[in-house]
Amino acid sequence: MSEIKACIFDLDGVIVDTAKYHFLAWRKLANELGFDFSEEQNEMLKGVSRIESLRLILELGGVSMSEEDIQLLAAKKNEDYLIFVNQMDEKEILPGVVSFLEQVRASGMKVVLGSASKNAERILKQINLIDIFDVIIDGTKTSRSKPDPQVFIMGAEAVSIPNEHCVVFEDAPKGVQAAQAAGMKTVGIGKSDVLGAADRVIPGFEGLELEFLQTL
Ligand code: BG6
Ligand code: MG
Repeated sequence: MSEIKACIFDLDGVIVDTAKYHFLAWRKLANELGFDFSEEQNEMLKGVSRIESLRLILELGGVSMSEEDIQLLAAKKNEDYLIFVNQMDEKEILPGVVSFLEQVRASGMKVVLGSASKNAERILKQINLIDIFDVIIDGTKTSRSKPDPQVFIMGAEAVSIPNEHCVVFEDAPKGVQAAQAAGMKTVGIGKSDVLGAADRVIPGFEGLELEFLQTL
């Protein structure tokens, strides 16, 4: 069997496709401030914390404001985002995810969530998937955003597995960078032109068997 002892999963873009909801909420905010925001620009925000995403968007729109107003806007964006989140259910789990998570768990490997989102627990409850994780490290527990490796290092520590025995599943280049900075193996979920830095890139979890980990 492979030397992998823990699988660390990003949430947004790996377990569920929430980027479309983040995009709608960010675009609304940009439009209200008088500028547009494209899906292409939204790509840059994958893996980036809420407040850092907002700072980037304000920069794109050439808007500056007080720190207090930035905090208020971030809270408002989250309210808009949660309208979508509150409607989520199991049907939003990406194909093959549940089967793969169950295989990982049944094998005795640790199942860890490593996400920048402060809404991670809420989303996992909403899609009824919270109980499968041994440990959840999310944006409420971290102080540094990916590509900083903090979230993954904390995840590995929490399950007492050395970093080199962890594999991280990520859809964002910044997340792959973070995992590599932690000395972990990486599987990119998505397209290889974007995630080429990962050890392996797969389009998703559909049909994925645990044996795949041995090829890393
Ligand atoms: C990441 C997303 O998982 O979480 C980012 O890829 C998002 O787009 C970040 O900004 C923070 O999410 P939240 O739910 O705390 O606003
Ligand atoms: Mg992601």
